Amino acid sequence: MNKIDLIVTNLKKTFNRRLVFDGLNFEIKSGEKLIITGKNGSGKSTLMKILAGVLTESAGFFQYILNDKKVDRENIYQIVGLVSPYLVLYDEFTAFENLKLFARIRNIKMSDEEINQILKKVGLFDRRNDLVRTYSSGMKQRIKYASAILHNPLVLLLDEPTSNLDLDGKNFVDELVEDFRSDGIVLVATNESQDFKYGQNIINLDNFHNIQVK
Ligand SMILES: Nc1ncnc2c1ncn2[C@@H]1O[C@H](COP(=O)(O)OP(=O)(O)OP(=O)(O)O)[C@@H](O)[C@H]1O
Ligand SMILES: [Mg+2]
Repeated sequence: MNKIDLIVTNLKKTFNRRLVFDGLNFEIKSGEKLIITGKNGSGKSTLMKILAGVLTESAGFFQYILNDKKVDRENIYQIVGLVSPYLVLYDEFTAFENLKLFARIRNIKMSDEEINQILKKVGLFDRRNDLVRTYSSGMKQRIKYASAILHNPLVLLLDEPTSNLDLDGKNFVDELVEDFRSDGIVLVATNESQDFKYGQNIINLDNFHNIQVK
């Protein structure tokens, strides 16, 4: 069992003069699940990208602590799995090839058999050799899940987790969140009240953008 903590302190994000959020504070640790909500444009996706290490905060800070050791910025990608509408898939590659590539980018060795297991898990095994270009949006969403869990991350960041998914897909997400490693943490950014069941606590970003940028 690992121990993971995420500490967010006075986190602030602006784009030029536009304040997205400020004064964001929370802490979440192994076994906990948190919902991030807020109206369109309140910064849910921005926060998820910052916590995945793909976007930089403007002030304040956040820190992952793995077994009492700080995780360096450049290693965040090893412990985090992100599912987001902004993730780009390679349209001219098959699902199998996309996953192979994501594994290589993350520097993890995966056998074809292991990749096939993940494809089975997300229900895409039968379509593994089709070009992603020919996929439906729900199928693309499923590859994003496959890519997010490929490296067995401790932190799952889900932005709009159930968008485009049919009932089967939603059940899949239910199971994934429910069965997620007990030493891990899950953050879910959503406006769908049906997704609120994924977390114990909820933060509304509407409460964090009332401070004016000077
Ligand atoms: N790259 C960018 N450059 C400038 N402004 C941006 C950029 N990305 C996001 N923003 C702005 O930041 C704010 C927050 O956007 P974000 O996408 O995080 O909101 P959201 O809560 O995810 O919204 P939604 O519910 O529509 O998904 C918006 O005002 C948006 O216009
Ligand atoms: Mg968003």
